[in-house]
Amino acid sequence: MKQTKVLILGAGGAIAHHVIQFLQHHGNIHLTLFLRNKSHLKGIKGPNINIVEGDVLHHKQLNEAMKDQDIVYANLAGSLDKMARQIVEAMEKNGVRRLIFVTSLGIYNEVPGAFGKWNDSMIGNSLAPYREAADIIETSDLDYTVVRPAWLTDNEEVDYELTQKGEDFKGTEVSRKSVAAYIADLIQHPRKNIKASVGIDKPGTEGDKPSFY
Ligand SMILES: NC(=O)c1ccc[n+]([C@@H]2O[C@H](COP(=O)([O-])OP(=O)(O)OC[C@H]3O[C@@H](n4cnc5c(N)ncnc54)[C@H](OP(=O)(O)O)[C@@H]3O)[C@@H](O)[C@H]2O)c1
Repeated sequence: MKQTKVLILGAGGAIAHHVIQFLQHHGNIHLTLFLRNKSHLKGIKGPNINIVEGDVLHHKQLNEAMKDQDIVYANLAGSLDKMARQIVEAMEKNGVRRLIFVTSLGIYNEVPGAFGKWNDSMIGNSLAPYREAADIIETSDLDYTVVRPAWLTDNEEVDYELTQKGEDFKGTEVSRKSVAAYIADLIQHPRKNIKASVGIDKPGTEGDKPSFY
């Protein structure tokens, strides 16, 4: 049986941690965990896991890691615009087509009402590189899913609903574990939600701001 080879960029990140937990014992999936500091992986190892220390903005390291992969899942933060440019270029160069890329709610001004205003006042200033990353990915030829989570919690639950680009965003919050469950599902069913930008929130959390604020 051919294994699906998955490259996780930013594998030490919090959502990625749950994705690894969901997938690490699936014999049909091979994970390459790419991160700047492997001590962040807290002892994760196994026959289907390869760990690579590297920086996404380091051209050569990224290109090396990209070789022979089937799916790239990017769980990054910060200069997502620069990172998206490098990732798209490296994927095109190496013939890798499927990309799952985490951004944020609010990049298209898709959050309505009082919550939209509150969200903009809290994170509006930091969303420009996130929006640019989405634009770079959406204008590529890749089979992408841009994921736009609501405000993240560390609740031990999986409970989510999705909205598509062009629709209003719904709830205010969602657990990292839920976002990870959705991403793990995409990795296991890579034809789902192709060329899509998907909002993800917990049903019933509509309001003026997340419950923990
Ligand atoms: N907090 C919220 O409520 C919220 C809501 C919506 C969306 N988001 C966004 O969702 C995304 C994922 O969330 P999360 O909680 O999983 O984030 P996280 O734990 O901060 O993970 C992001 C990862 O990106 C890695 N990274 C940054 N620059 C890198 C580079 N140049 N090369 C390699 N790795 C790099 C970091 O690695 P290091 O450990 O080496 O720094 C970190 O592990 C973030 O972009 C976040 O902004 C957050």
